[in-house]
Amino acid sequence: MDLERLLSDRLAPAFAEVAGGPVDPLVRRSPRADFQSDAALALARRLGRPPRDIAAAVLERAVLDDVCASAEVSGPGFLNLTVADRALADLAAGLAGDARLGVPSTTAPQTVVVDYSAPNVAKEMHVGHLRSTVIGDAAVRLLEWLGHRVVRVNHLGDWGTPFGMLIEHLADLGGAEAAHELSMGDLDTFYRAARLKFDADEAFRERSRSRVVALQGGDERTSRLWRLLVEQSERYFLTVYDLLDVTLSEGDFLGESAYNDLLAGVVDDLDGLGLLTPSDGADCVFPPGFVGRGGDPLPLIVRKRDGGYGYPATDLAALRQRTGELGATRLVYVVGLPQRQHFAMVFAVARAAGWLSPPAHAEHLGFGSILGADGRMLRSRAGESVKLVGLLEEAVARASDLALSRNPELDAEAAAEIGRAVGIGAIKYADLSTDRTKDYVLDWERMLSLEGNTAPYLQYAYARVRSMFRRAGTDARVDAPLVLALPAERALTVELLGFAGVVTEVERTLEFHQLAGYLHRLATAFNAFYEHCPVLRAPDDLRESRLLLAELTARTLRQGLHLLGIRTLDRM
Ligand code: ARG
Repeated sequence: MDLERLLSDRLAPAFAEVAGGPVDPLVRRSPRADFQSDAALALARRLGRPPRDIAAAVLERAVLDDVCASAEVSGPGFLNLTVADRALADLAAGLAGDARLGVPSTTAPQTVVVDYSAPNVAKEMHVGHLRSTVIGDAAVRLLEWLGHRVVRVNHLGDWGTPFGMLIEHLADLGGAEAAHELSMGDLDTFYRAARLKFDADEAFRERSRSRVVALQGGDERTSRLWRLLVEQSERYFLTVYDLLDVTLSEGDFLGESAYNDLLAGVVDDLDGLGLLTPSDGADCVFPPGFVGRGGDPLPLIVRKRDGGYGYPATDLAALRQRTGELGATRLVYVVGLPQRQHFAMVFAVARAAGWLSPPAHAEHLGFGSILGADGRMLRSRAGESVKLVGLLEEAVARASDLALSRNPELDAEAAAEIGRAVGIGAIKYADLSTDRTKDYVLDWERMLSLEGNTAPYLQYAYARVRSMFRRAGTDARVDAPLVLALPAERALTVELLGFAGVVTEVERTLEFHQLAGYLHRLATAFNAFYEHCPVLRAPDDLRESRLLLAELTARTLRQGLHLLGIRTLDRM
């Protein structure tokens, strides 16, 4: 059990008695003691009693003697709790024998669908897809580790009117061979050429329109060309996933086209439920509470004026399938913030239609943009959107170069391996360690630095432990008694006991910067320990205890980074 939870469980009955009803004790880490509860402050107004009185009354009733060395009221009515060394050592000893480091598997496994990555066929993945892929990958890893049944869905953009022009262009180029270029990553050239023709050439536009009709009608040659586009693009995306070291694979592609046959039924059912309103020749749903700039109700267009179904109808069909056929109770959509309103409306309509009812719920994990050094949207020198593969390759190259410059004896293969783990890790960590909803600047120097809240800093702390064990020539003894002699080893133990609490919190919020921040605190506490507490030169009992603390740190860093999709290295 984590410490916050333990203290919270001890305070809760006392608070309940004093308040005459359940109260969350709001136990948090604090620089003043180990932990602090400020629930008395929040209660004061409700109970009409001074907060310090409430805090004192809680202290009188709470059973803390076996856990706390001191518990006192401070300031306006905080409870400051300092944990007893004995309790810390006992709890940490419990971690040593636990492969899950104190993190329990869920007692209520859910089916969770995570919709992420979702690039578009015959179009280069942009940095927005990078964020979605990295955040989604962390979500599936964490939820799976906790024991949920996770369904990865890569909602590929593989349908819609642009395919008329793309297929027609492919036909002009002669089919298969040209499509092969796509798998090699030349998506933008292809897309741009098609677009140029479409804009310049009326006859091509006309042919493109008929292609859309042929595609929807299931025309064989057209479908074959379409499949070529999809397959070759998928092949390319898989190489990106491979480079990015994420858990998405071929079987996870479930593109928009997969819902095509369900769309008419979805719209009919909305009609049957009386939710459909014709507007301007289109069929719309007006979910309550959504208004445009002028205050007019906003429509979700489920059937366009030309009779076609678009992006919103597809998302409704997909959602219904996820809660219905798949039986999912948690739907997670990792898509950029510009689509916030789209998802809010889709969820509202799905709720109104009865396709999204408790316990099932949906969350849009929106995210901000990645900015260049100039603080503007990341662009290449030519002003085009940055090619993802180029970005990843640059990260790996820079990290290998740095490794070589620090350690010129490295052979090329070792440098390349370090480059991959550190470069890709740095990209992911820069993303996951910032509040998801914020934009952030892609700053190579900062994210590859061995100092600060970065992947290399954490990876380096891990490698330090491994090197310590190589020098020690032994493993840690998991049943070694822990001795908390110096403040630095005590502080490290407190951090180690925080892992379970953070993971449980992130299970709910999917805010990975909380996990990143925790790992950074842990590595910082470890580095202070490493500096102040001799290990290999210490007397036997201390040596064993310190080796075990180092081992627990390494295991926690490794597991925590693994949940973020980041590799650790034994040497760097
Ligand atoms: N393909 C879309 C895009 O690139 C993202 C799809 C997100 N998922 C969804 N179910 N709508 O913007």
